[in-house]
Amino acid sequence: PPQSSLSLNSVPIQSSFGIAFDIDGVILRGQRPIGNSPKALKRLYDDSGILKFPFLFLTNGGGFPESKRASELSNLLGVKISPSQVVQGHSPFRTFLNRFENELIIATGKGDPAEVMLEYGFKRVLSIDEYASYFDHIDPVAHYKGWTSKKASNWPKNSPKSVSSRNVIADKVKAAFVVSDPVDWGRDIQVLCDILTSGGLPGEKYGNQPPLYFAADDLEYQAAFPSERLGMGAFRIALESIFNRIHNKPLQYTCFGKPNPFVYKNAETILREIQKSCHCDAIAKNAEQGSLSFKTLYMIGDNPLVDVKGAHQAGSPWFSVLTRTGVFRQKENHAEFPAHLVVDTVEEAVEFILKREV
Ligand code: G3P
Ligand code: MG
Repeated sequence: PPQSSLSLNSVPIQSSFGIAFDIDGVILRGQRPIGNSPKALKRLYDDSGILKFPFLFLTNGGGFPESKRASELSNLLGVKISPSQVVQGHSPFRTFLNRFENELIIATGKGDPAEVMLEYGFKRVLSIDEYASYFDHIDPVAHYKGWTSKKASNWPKNSPKSVSSRNVIADKVKAAFVVSDPVDWGRDIQVLCDILTSGGLPGEKYGNQPPLYFAADDLEYQAAFPSERLGMGAFRIALESIFNRIHNKPLQYTCFGKPNPFVYKNAETILREIQKSCHCDAIAKNAEQGSLSFKTLYMIGDNPLVDVKGAHQAGSPWFSVLTRTGVFRQKENHAEFPAHLVVDTVEEAVEFILKREV
């Protein structure tokens, strides 16, 4: 093992490493584990099931609170995943709490986007489904979809009681968050255009656009279907091209998620916290003293344009590993964003890392 310049009580210790696993196309396809992912992950725990080496999931997916996703992953993969080990596209949205805590904001995407934002502490967040239900005829084809124009009384327990129909219609929407992949593109594009062109009051014309945030910008991703599916980036392109045709100013928005470098920086900080609770050796204690930075951080992904590109933009100590179980399937490395290592499965990736580091 590589000898580190650091030592603890004059006992040389191995330099530390951490791993960030992409989920879709590496660990899972849909709900199905792939690439022997459960076996690969188990190697990062000791016999009593306590984490030995720091790792986390770094996914552009989302739609459920990190706590819920962690228990779902624990059940699917057969290892104990803590919420702090789940970093989703929308995880950084919690940083907007100061600005929008008590403002009316809208969240959209599959799963329960309002619950995600309520868990971060936002007090007046509505899902786009619920928000649209306050405006009759806002979606002229709603009745063909089997949507009923349910009013707030039918909405699940977590809808903020403080929001009444009067507040909603009279109140300006102060921000819109695309938390996960939208379910009904047509309705979401229509209602988001209503909000964004009117300054937050559907029916009005030409107000100042409220901020719009996307949890990711993936054009395509690997789900259960054999070929890639259109991701949030495809939805953003559709919304942006329509918005720019119907409004007098181009759409303004901010995209989060990989390959943004700050996502990898944030992952490094979280891995250092996870390292402190690891049941490994002097490395953890040294990390306690905050004196140890990681020698290598491995990003294991399936999408060169997202996972590999992001790791390379983040720079040292990131090391990119590309698997052939998702978006990328080629024999040779990717031409535009060649990974440091290309393997067939995540099991092979973990094998390589443990051989190299331990
Ligand atoms: O919606 C999921 C998609 O954006 C990609 O997820 O896990 O491959 O980053 P992941
Ligand atoms: Mg992926």
